[in-house]
Amino acid sequence: MPAKLPQKIKSLRKKIEKIEKQARVDLEQAQTQQELENVRIKCLGRNSELAQLLKLIPELSLKYKPEFGRLVNTLKRTLEESLSGKNVLLRKLKQEQALKIDITMPGMIQESGTIHPLSQTLQEIMQIFLNLGFSVAEGPEIETDYYNFSALNIPEGHPSRETFHTFYIDTGDLLRSQTSPVQVRVMEKQKPPLRIIAPGRVYRPDATDASHSFMFHQIEGLAVDRNISFADLKGTLSVFINAVFGSKTKMRFRPHFFPFTEPSAEVDISCIICGGKGCRVCSFKGWLEILGAGMVDPNVFSAVKYDPQHWQGFAFGMGVERIAMLKYGITDIRLFFENDVRFLRQF
Ligand code: PHE
Repeated sequence: MPAKLPQKIKSLRKKIEKIEKQARVDLEQAQTQQELENVRIKCLGRNSELAQLLKLIPELSLKYKPEFGRLVNTLKRTLEESLSGKNVLLRKLKQEQALKIDITMPGMIQESGTIHPLSQTLQEIMQIFLNLGFSVAEGPEIETDYYNFSALNIPEGHPSRETFHTFYIDTGDLLRSQTSPVQVRVMEKQKPPLRIIAPGRVYRPDATDASHSFMFHQIEGLAVDRNISFADLKGTLSVFINAVFGSKTKMRFRPHFFPFTEPSAEVDISCIICGGKGCRVCSFKGWLEILGAGMVDPNVFSAVKYDPQHWQGFAFGMGVERIAMLKYGITDIRLFFENDVRFLRQF
């Protein structure tokens, strides 16, 4: 054994040199923390050349052990220090890269949208009726002739059934031209008493201009109970009108005709622009028409198998666009549907 020592130590020094050289190459190449970790496993891990050398130590004779041990342990420390040095370097690099973002550049402004003026108006109207004990009902926009007309006491040959007043589709069904069919659908399913409002889109083949659109929104109202009278209708609508247009706004009923209500009326409010004196908005009449209403026709009750002897009801329907236009002073209905943010941002 003694004879072998110089040679062993000599070859050990060579081996150590080789290990160190390889480690330097590997460290040089490592660009990420993961790559550095791979180098660490290769240099210091359980299967590393260093680990093999360390394993030899217990087998050596006392004479060579110290020198051998010193050299191998020095190698271990050298490798550990180089690795941690590279670790610090990589971290620094990463921080510097992060700082390359120009923090003086203007930020990205997140613009938040606003609720569409029609939705706002719809919500406001619905809330008033919800407070009065009505609940919200919905129906389909593609309707049958029965619900849009027949069940509502609108006879064959009535002008509103003509194609220039209603959109028909290939199946023979139609796009509802009013929200009144929802009344029928609700009464078919529910027993009286009931109080509902039905908001939604309706369609009419009108030429588009400042006050007409082929699609617009209505809110329908229906209350059915025993002993409901015209006074209940008037009271309910006056609460609604004063809530939306202010307590000074006056209301009047004008006799009218709807097939599904009897008696029927059109309801006007005193002009909210001129207060009733007469101006361009009210065509110098002092009044603005805002909705149709009346007592439910007994024929409609019969269609849904309610006994007209026992039940009375009132119904009304209004255009949401019209209410919003009056409330906000909007003069062109098309503005609601053009999605121009310069308009929408104002609400
Ligand atoms: N449906 C009618 C219309 O569109 C409005 C209305 C509803 C009238 C309910 C009376 C009762 O013009």
